[in-house]
Amino acid sequence: MNLQLDINELISKTPTTRYRGSKRRVLPWLYKNLKTLKFDTLLDGFGGTSSVSYLCKMMGKEVTTNDVLQSNYQIGISLIENNKFVLNKKDIEFLTHTNGFEYPTFIQDTFKEIYYLDYENEWLDKVIYNILMLSEKYTGEILRKKRALAYNALFQACLSKRPYNLFHRKNLYMRTANVRRSFSNDITWDKPFDELFMKFCGEVSSKVFSNKRLNVALCNDIMELRNESYDLVYLDPPYIKAEKDDYVDYHTFYHFLEGIVDYNNWSERINHLKKNKPLIKNGSMWNKKNVESNLTKLFDNFSDSIIVISYGAPGFPSIKTIKELLEQFKDEIKITRKEYSYSLNHSSKNGNKLYEVLIIAR
Ligand SMILES: C[S@@+](CC[C@H](N)C(=O)[O-])C[C@H]1O[C@@H](n2cnc3c(N)ncnc32)[C@H](O)[C@@H]1O
Repeated sequence: MNLQLDINELISKTPTTRYRGSKRRVLPWLYKNLKTLKFDTLLDGFGGTSSVSYLCKMMGKEVTTNDVLQSNYQIGISLIENNKFVLNKKDIEFLTHTNGFEYPTFIQDTFKEIYYLDYENEWLDKVIYNILMLSEKYTGEILRKKRALAYNALFQACLSKRPYNLFHRKNLYMRTANVRRSFSNDITWDKPFDELFMKFCGEVSSKVFSNKRLNVALCNDIMELRNESYDLVYLDPPYIKAEKDDYVDYHTFYHFLEGIVDYNNWSERINHLKKNKPLIKNGSMWNKKNVESNLTKLFDNFSDSIIVISYGAPGFPSIKTIKELLEQFKDEIKITRKEYSYSLNHSSKNGNKLYEVLIIAR
């Protein structure tokens, strides 16, 4: 891959995703800001789909991507850590074929009429098992990275077939009901899993490249992450609405992808009391009560690094508060913003515009 970045080519080079809060669409703007900063090593602390890590990998930086979700960890392994392994034609055949194993029926039995149709659930049980059985073909690092690529492709296929691209509700009926819809993925959700998965296997493989650095993926609660003296720490925490006690709950949105990567233990981790059968929550959530004290701890922990924060405005806490928290540790704080709207949420409820904000502290 050509590491000379043409700003207009940036988005087309970065892998596509339907992840809530992904920075993919604002990467050219982020690039314009990041390239003015002097840094060689980066921690992307709330990495999500690793889109910002991928940008920095393209910029030739040594990148550590981190996210508390195991599914995002797999994405990080596949695209950030991985410098060379891809899924070839034979791998994709192995992953999609019925290979004569005794396939489990866990998703068919557990998620009937919740997220996907019966034959799609059967397809998922088969393909997830095939991903595990890649161990018959590979070992060590090759296995780890090929599996991660396959999981990544599977996540993208799964998201494409979900209303709102989420797993927060039992709402398969939205796909099956014969009504007009006001949003766009009704075209993709009717595409066969096989077709989508193969497309994404090709796409994620085509995005693999080496920047000749030792890039790493981690899966940690950022509050427990060791400070490895990164030159720059990029923080893109979950968005918390300013007006009410409401935040983007990634665990609730993507529990099904978390289950996929822990397929053998999935059944013990499910909360059967809820209709949509999410995983039982564990660990600390990023919410209105703890956000200010968490930010203060992070600013303190990473006070020797340049700290860059992505922030959605209007949000909680206010920009003024974040600036005051930062001022305890940093002398120079620069704030830049750009008008932005997330899909399905073109403006905030009170009619105000939404802004993507970047807070750079040195
Ligand atoms: C706004 S998203 C990041 C999006 C990312 N920049 C991208 O482009 O895809 C916030 C991420 O923070 C992660 N997260 C939430 N709480 C966390 C924690 N305590 N430690 C690490 N990651 C966390 C979520 O799983 C989610 O992926």
